[in-house]
Amino acid sequence: MASELHDTQGQGRNSAGNSEGKAAPQKKSPCIMVIFGAMGDLTKRKLLPSLCNLAREKLMSDNFAVVGFSRAPMTHEEFREKQRAVMDQFATDKLDPALGKWLVERLYYASGNFDDPEAYRKLAALLAQLDGELKTNGNYFFYLATAPEFFSVVSEQLAAVGLLKEENGSWRRVIVEKPFGRDLESAKSLNRKLLETMREEQIYRIDHYLGKETVQNILVFRFSNGIFEPIWNRRYIKHVEITVAETVGVETRGGYYETSGALRDMVPNHIFQLVTLIAMEPPISFDADAVRDEQTKILRAIPPYAPEEVLSRTARGQYGEGAVGGKQIPAYRSEAKVSPTSNVQTYVAMKLAIDNWRWADVPIYLRTGKALPKRVTEIAIHFRRAPFVLFRHTAIENLMQNRLILHIQPDEGISLRFGAKVPGPTMKLGAVDMDFSYAGRFGSTHSTGYERLIYDCMAGDATLFQRADMVEAAWGVVQPVLDVWQALPPRNFPNYPAGTWGPREADDLLARDERRWTNE
Ligand code: BG6
Repeated sequence: MASELHDTQGQGRNSAGNSEGKAAPQKKSPCIMVIFGAMGDLTKRKLLPSLCNLAREKLMSDNFAVVGFSRAPMTHEEFREKQRAVMDQFATDKLDPALGKWLVERLYYASGNFDDPEAYRKLAALLAQLDGELKTNGNYFFYLATAPEFFSVVSEQLAAVGLLKEENGSWRRVIVEKPFGRDLESAKSLNRKLLETMREEQIYRIDHYLGKETVQNILVFRFSNGIFEPIWNRRYIKHVEITVAETVGVETRGGYYETSGALRDMVPNHIFQLVTLIAMEPPISFDADAVRDEQTKILRAIPPYAPEEVLSRTARGQYGEGAVGGKQIPAYRSEAKVSPTSNVQTYVAMKLAIDNWRWADVPIYLRTGKALPKRVTEIAIHFRRAPFVLFRHTAIENLMQNRLILHIQPDEGISLRFGAKVPGPTMKLGAVDMDFSYAGRFGSTHSTGYERLIYDCMAGDATLFQRADMVEAAWGVVQPVLDVWQALPPRNFPNYPAGTWGPREADDLLARDERRWTNE
């Protein structure tokens, strides 16, 4: 695909996720970031590397500091030493020494238990001191990179020492990690608890899928190109297929996964973000609420499954032993911290409807699973066939369907399939693809996906974060599935060997509609 970049501001894309061909808005608010769970995996793998990338792109104010908070007692200097090592190991690109020094000097540490009021009094004193020294205008944001049971505990403690109170023009925000609840009731209860301590506008519920360039690009692709929107509806689209396939098994995360399973882990959050972005109406602006209103409407337009529909419109699976890419993977039930009789699903497929004027009668098929043959996240839009009449008296028996694939990862790009005449004296049709590759056109970036989200939180832009009503609407859709699956435990697990495309039931789900999954 010819790819001319119309970059009206003369700016390219940068690794912090500014892909819309316009200059990064320079909203570098002075502030302090407090990370709860500062010694955890997320901080190591994502948050600190993201801060390095933001520093490189000069997207942080000079008046900035990070306070790590976790249980182990440590001095500021010891914390800095540890983070220096983390940066060496996990930064996606090496930071030049001066910038590395700039960032490390801005790291501080506070220790304590998440439920210890004294630890929060000390934290408040440290923040007040840093605020005075660094002139951060009393602006703080708190990143809850903790186990979910601490989300409301931390917010209550922060509120108790006045750290969530915005006064004299300061702002206070809280980023809440996934999982946000484990069903509709617990999500509602968590929302209620958080809202007792702060306003909705202060809560930034993160879904790291929204930090991905290609996910953000869905909106740009749909709404900045005049040619797609007119055909983006039931008149031209026959069905939509969303695949989020992973080659890894649960590896070291068995303990968490036993309480979650593929449905909770991936569907109401990551996959529903993809569904809403693909299906939403054009918002009236990119303002946070304008976008999120439209996303929420899509979730509300998905009719909840009746119990018998759960059986006919969903499929679940669990991997047995097998090989992925030549590597042997143990059965899920043999993984560490997994019960040998576990009935937790590692694969889920669903057929959804969106009952509105744009999408009525266009099925949306979703699937996600672990230990599948290929790592791929993509959205395939299948268009209706052209009328056949013209080809009646030719050797052509079938017309192919046009198909547009949005490749989210790992090969980011877009491809459009159409039919072309195969050269030669007879009439033969071949399917050809027009491919656009992000890396080919823009070069590859090494962002973690969290840069844009952290940056937006500092800038007070909640567009890429979930609102309370969205989260609840999403759980509302999957709740009947959770209920029926719990009431009827699976009897045939494990039902797919690692390294295959999931259980037979998932193929049957599409076969009932005379379709097959796109496994390429
Ligand atoms: C996480 C899930 O939220 O997303 C994991 O808990 C999953 O189970 C991961 O592997 C997938 O993220 P990505 O960015 O690798 O597609």
